Amino acid sequence: MDRTLSPDQVEQLVAAAEQARERAYAPYSRFRVGAALLCESGDIVRGANVENASFGLCICAERTAVSTAVVQGRRDFIGIAIMTGSSPPSTPCGMCRQVLAEFCRDLDVVLCNDKGERLRTTLKALFPNNFDARLLQDGADTEPTP
Ligand code: THU
Repeated sequence: MDRTLSPDQVEQLVAAAEQARERAYAPYSRFRVGAALLCESGDIVRGANVENASFGLCICAERTAVSTAVVQGRRDFIGIAIMTGSSPPSTPCGMCRQVLAEFCRDLDVVLCNDKGERLRTTLKALFPNNFDARLLQDGADTEPTP
């Protein structure tokens, strides 16, 4: 199946990520992030970063979107747009790359910012050779570890 997002899908996703970014709760970093996941069905699931006074508890926009989607019964992601205020547009952090890879290796990624810049990439390009369930199973002890 051709996974490349159409120009229309890209624009819809970018608009959704921009909307989601308005809901970001980022009083500490003041770095607001919006994410929008496109599902096979065409549905879009939004996420934004949610920070906490205990800084280590901050949750990224991408992982908020993934968690929301999974709880809604959706795991069939084909694309994600990530909207920030940085130039060039920010890439997802390592933790979010791993979380995205759990559900979809063939993910189209649109990095965008509020200045109208757009960068197209893929999760495979951003995160090659990732750790996954197959490796976990392959390396797991067959006997209980003493
Ligand atoms: N952040 C994201 O939402 N996504 C990323 O991929 C990188 C960082 C958030 C976390 C934190 O709220 C703020 O950006 C600064 O790190």
